[in-house]
Amino acid sequence: MSVKETTIDPTRLARLIETEEAEFGDRHKESRAMTQRASRALAGGVASSWQSTDPHPIYLADGHGSKVVDIDGNEYVDFHNGYGAMAVGHAHPKIAEVVSDRVRRGTHFAQPTEDSVVVGEHLSERFGLPLWRFGNSGTEATMDAVRLMRAVTGRDILLKIEGSYHGHGDAVMVSVAPPSDSIGDYENPVSVPQTIGLPDAVVELTRVVPFNDLDALERTLDRYQGRVAGMIVEPTMMNAGMIMPEDGYLAGVKELLHGAGALLAFDEVKTGATIAYGGATKRFGVTPDLICLAKSTGGGLPCGAIGGTEEVMGWIADGRIDQVGTFNGNPLTMAAMRAALTEILTPGVYAEFDRLAEILREGCDAVIEQTGIGGYTTVMSARGAVTYRSERVRNYRDYLEVSDELAYVNWLVQINRGVFMAPWGKSENWTLSVQHSEEDVRRYVQNFEFLGKAIAA
Ligand SMILES: Cc1ncc(COP(=O)(O)O)c(C=O)c1O
Repeated sequence: MSVKETTIDPTRLARLIETEEAEFGDRHKESRAMTQRASRALAGGVASSWQSTDPHPIYLADGHGSKVVDIDGNEYVDFHNGYGAMAVGHAHPKIAEVVSDRVRRGTHFAQPTEDSVVVGEHLSERFGLPLWRFGNSGTEATMDAVRLMRAVTGRDILLKIEGSYHGHGDAVMVSVAPPSDSIGDYENPVSVPQTIGLPDAVVELTRVVPFNDLDALERTLDRYQGRVAGMIVEPTMMNAGMIMPEDGYLAGVKELLHGAGALLAFDEVKTGATIAYGGATKRFGVTPDLICLAKSTGGGLPCGAIGGTEEVMGWIADGRIDQVGTFNGNPLTMAAMRAALTEILTPGVYAEFDRLAEILREGCDAVIEQTGIGGYTTVMSARGAVTYRSERVRNYRDYLEVSDELAYVNWLVQINRGVFMAPWGKSENWTLSVQHSEEDVRRYVQNFEFLGKAIAA
């Protein structure tokens, strides 16, 4: 690991941003025209607000293997991977085969199929929790987790980590990316609505605590004694770059919550199928009461799953809580999920992810060391990120100090040189797929070397 002060030349950085933005404009004329056409039919020209980014969205046409192609014909190594949903890579032959087969035999019944049973059995073995249900997105999984924790405990207050994202349900759209002037003191963080449209009463019921601070959690549990239903935690924060849990933190969270009669839900939507076989739960050796899955577990189809202990999921099993949805466990998703989990994202794959991750970590840290870009590289199997802050980031308030400018210029440099990155700068991380090669990851490092040289003082 390399952590180094920034000693770059600001004039060279500003000039590089200017030339890279011009290059971006030249390379994406069709996307720019499509943005204008799209804005007449789609609100903001996109299907989801998080596809709407400056200078303008890049409209994609195709994906194959580790690559995507945009409507201007530019081909890229895909490090975005559909916000981390494509660990199987694009157009994987196995996914194409099982989905085509399923399409020909009927795509939707709203009745269970054998594939859903096989997937449930597999998830139990893989994540160590016995009972599962399905939904269609990560948002549905976290929404179900919150409802379950409240129902089982008969309490209302939900705890979450300041700066974590858990989908767009009202209860969790609180203090997701709050501006620094609205978050209050570290000792007494304010619950900040992420969007207008959330009732005050809902926002008030979600209390936030800083990541990696057990004392703060203990104080909060004391303060709301007997009222906390549970806490939703992303075991590694993956929407604030990549913030690792400190040793013992996750185990401590579980102990404190259980001591207070509250439950623990891990949001493994991003980590579940990408950082280890068995996700963060296995990697960090802490099994929560509930696990939320989505993204890469579905092999590229819309998916969501929630797993839990007999005690918690028993409330669904015996009908005290309805967990529902017309498309839950739909045959297409189940076929893709079964193939993705049992035939593609198998244990050996994570060793190869680790090997590629190490090339990225070593390469990027060497650039940091040699050129004065302040920061460090974090990798966990298929996931990784360069964090542009000289000191290690422990929580959201540290993350606010990460350089937006360096994250943005790296995004421009990578896009202009054939590596497709998620467009949200410092908040995002990369996702590799089983179809990525050594040559693919070396391309990222070479581009990063270019960046380092271009802005070194
Ligand atoms: C950690 C985490 N939880 C939940 C979600 C919501 O998932 P979805 O977009 O499938 O609703 C996301 C989406 O990015 C996420 O990153």
